[in-house]
Amino acid sequence: MVTSDPGAGPPGAGANEPADPVLEAELVAAEDLSHLHQAAQQIARLPDVERMAYLRADRWIGYTRATEALARLEALLAWPAKQRMPNLLLLGPTNNGKSMIIEKFRRAHPPVWHPDWEEIPVLTVQMPSDPKVSRFYTALLTALGAPLRPGQRLAELEQLTLRLLRQTGVRVLVIDELHNTLAGHGTARREFLNLLRFLGNELKIPLVGVGTRDAYLAIRSDDQLENRFAPFVLPSWRPDEQACKLLASFAAAFPLRRPSLIATPDMAEYLLTRSEGTIGELTALLTEAAVAAIESGEEAISQRTLLLASYAGPTQRRAMFERELA
Ligand SMILES: Nc1ncnc2c1ncn2[C@@H]1O[C@H](COP(=O)(O)OP(=O)(O)OP(=O)(O)O)[C@@H](O)[C@H]1O
Ligand SMILES: [Mg+2]
Repeated sequence: MVTSDPGAGPPGAGANEPADPVLEAELVAAEDLSHLHQAAQQIARLPDVERMAYLRADRWIGYTRATEALARLEALLAWPAKQRMPNLLLLGPTNNGKSMIIEKFRRAHPPVWHPDWEEIPVLTVQMPSDPKVSRFYTALLTALGAPLRPGQRLAELEQLTLRLLRQTGVRVLVIDELHNTLAGHGTARREFLNLLRFLGNELKIPLVGVGTRDAYLAIRSDDQLENRFAPFVLPSWRPDEQACKLLASFAAAFPLRRPSLIATPDMAEYLLTRSEGTIGELTALLTEAAVAAIESGEEAISQRTLLLASYAGPTQRRAMFERELA
């Protein structure tokens, strides 16, 4: 367990001494960076500003569950067209990597320009927060890049959308934020669930719903849909072997010049307790610790830099916000 060390002063004493840039560059070049992935090694040799920018950008870590989810999506893409296509429901708490997986999948199958048509193998669309059928068709048309004509009737929207989905050869349709369906009142939800069934039957392509537990509840409220959507869960992280593997990947991906010894059960316990178990919060915490590692000259994620990290977990943020509102 990482414990706080209130007596410890800011680390990296001497980091503010005037540096000779040539000497510094030579020192960095000679440094052993074998604790990092190849790509991170190159970044680790860059000046601090560039390293910080790299830290704060998104990066993909292929943890086991994400790789399994991608394999499921690939299988759906390769599925031969038949009367009844399988669907997938990618579920998990908010901020736990669902959209990142979908985006990774979409990028692996980008649109292809043919001489006179555009092929879109994977189409992703976000369920509007106001779950009306017309809003959903409009979102699909926008995702297809179709010009929108205001005031179109529902039947026209439907026909146009189906035609374009066929013309662009969409093979998998992904609907993110599917839990928004539950935001609608009974009739709107029923209409939308009917629409999902209709789309699946009409197009004979797999549908992938993405969302929180509420997405599952929405699908479950319709018997027919329930047994057509296979759930795949991205659970909250627990301090187990998988979490240690994830931490090792983060440690190898952050361009810090000294090894970060965070892939241990104790560290996993501490980090997941503080970040409350989602990969998004964990990323935010580790990123702030890595920034502190660069700023302080410590150059590793350690107890010290974790204490220096300007990060508050979701519960703490909520409490701070509520105090401000009071
Ligand atoms: N595979 C991954 N590799 C590295 N970082 C990741 C990965 N997946 C998620 N993250 C981090 O977690 C953050 C949240 O992920 P994402 O937006 O995919 O969550 P989500 O489950 O879609 O959340 P929501 O339900 O709120 O939409 C990302 O911005 C990124 O920082
Ligand atoms: Mg998301």
